[in-house]
Amino acid sequence: MNGVTRTLITGGTVVSPTGRIAADVLIDGETVAAVLAPGQAEGLGVTAANVDTTIDAAGKYVVPGGVDVHTHMQMPFGGTEASDTFETGTTAAAWGGITTIVDFAVQNTGGSVQDALAAWHEKADGNCAIDYGFHQIIGGVDEESLKAMTYLVDNEGITSFKLFMAYPGVLYSDDGQILRAMQTANESGAMIMMHAENGIAIDVLVAQAVARGDTDPRFHSLTRPAELEGEATHRAIQLAKVAGNVPLYIVHMSASEALEEVAAARHQGHNVFAETCPQYLYLSLEDQLAQPGFEGAKWVCSTPLRTKHEHHHRDLWKGLRMNELAVVSTDHCPFCFKEQKEMGIGDFSKIPNGIGGVEHRMELLYQGVVNGEISLERWVETCCTTPARMFGMYPKKGIIAPGADADILVWDPNGHTTIGVEHKHHMNMDHSAWEGFEIDGKVDTVLSRGRVIIEDDTFTGSKGHGQYVKRGLSQYLV
Ligand code: URP
Ligand code: ZN
Ligand code: ZN
Repeated sequence: MNGVTRTLITGGTVVSPTGRIAADVLIDGETVAAVLAPGQAEGLGVTAANVDTTIDAAGKYVVPGGVDVHTHMQMPFGGTEASDTFETGTTAAAWGGITTIVDFAVQNTGGSVQDALAAWHEKADGNCAIDYGFHQIIGGVDEESLKAMTYLVDNEGITSFKLFMAYPGVLYSDDGQILRAMQTANESGAMIMMHAENGIAIDVLVAQAVARGDTDPRFHSLTRPAELEGEATHRAIQLAKVAGNVPLYIVHMSASEALEEVAAARHQGHNVFAETCPQYLYLSLEDQLAQPGFEGAKWVCSTPLRTKHEHHHRDLWKGLRMNELAVVSTDHCPFCFKEQKEMGIGDFSKIPNGIGGVEHRMELLYQGVVNGEISLERWVETCCTTPARMFGMYPKKGIIAPGADADILVWDPNGHTTIGVEHKHHMNMDHSAWEGFEIDGKVDTVLSRGRVIIEDDTFTGSKGHGQYVKRGLSQYLV
């Protein structure tokens, strides 16, 4: 066996986007060697006696490790820095059955893209518990950054670029800059990711609210109306068409109005895609953001939580079923309540924007399976396979098949998870946005490139095990 570790996962139900089968999974070193029908392993002479590790998955689901394509580890933002390092954040991700993240390297206006990317490698390399890739945020579209975009596609395995229609004066691009970046991306086949909110109009509403004395956290949502997410999404789609039909991916979608725009563009056959996040499927303005006092600050994120009295939750779940929403990511952007969220006491516009959730996406979306919102296969598709395909990592990531990286989550549907700081919580945050959420299922065992990193409620991985993933172009285009 030449020192290569062999692992056999026996007796489980292997789930892919196209179905579920009873099968054993044989792992040779870091990759999947075979997916074997029950009894086939023995027939081939593969038994517990001649593999190094056997994992009993009887009664459990064996699914690809989760791929979370939207995280912000130690990102400087809102006058502070996201509280998870690459070490703490990827370890928490492992606890949640995630085996790959794609984080965002940030170029600020006037800064160099290459320096920004180097800074992100400096933060991440040697520190991650699971594999990781990068998107590049272009916060200052100019001649240099446009050139750098093409360089990154050709040389750095970065094939997706996030632009902001929100945050004027910070990461914001105007329509002309957006068009130019889209044209550049289109030449190399790259994907444009868009934060689609009309930031110019939002800033007017924010200033008016603060001047009126409407400073509680709930005004964060009330000054970012759904219409302005819908409008920006519409505009982004039109600009993408004008730029030659560049592939466009709308991030952290929260509003029915935006979903309708994406659905219409997809119906017309355009390469327009969208993700949502668990917070937009479960949480609301009334139940979280409008909690008494300053408590709601825990849920200040952009796009914002929407009112439960409209139909955003229902529409987003439907969008997930209909593939109007192709991916669920977390937009993991954690800030502690003490000293970080508290920066906005007396002025909601100073609350750092972001919710931590990298640990809980597989759990929360599995609850959607239990609740009848999505199928088991769709859970795997939206959380594992499509993110890998969308961002050029398939079939190395996102599938259990011969040759794929042995990134595997063994999920126990008979287990139970209580989320909360005193229960299951490994992110570097002093609170949980998901406090008290109960999940009818549990992360059982997690493997990253053939190595067991979670078992028996213990983290057995290590910082530095995670490798940088050079990504190709999207494999999801029509
Ligand atoms: O509130 C959020 N989403 N914070 C992270 C930055 C972004 O816009 O994704
Ligand atoms: Zn954003
Ligand atoms: Zn984000």
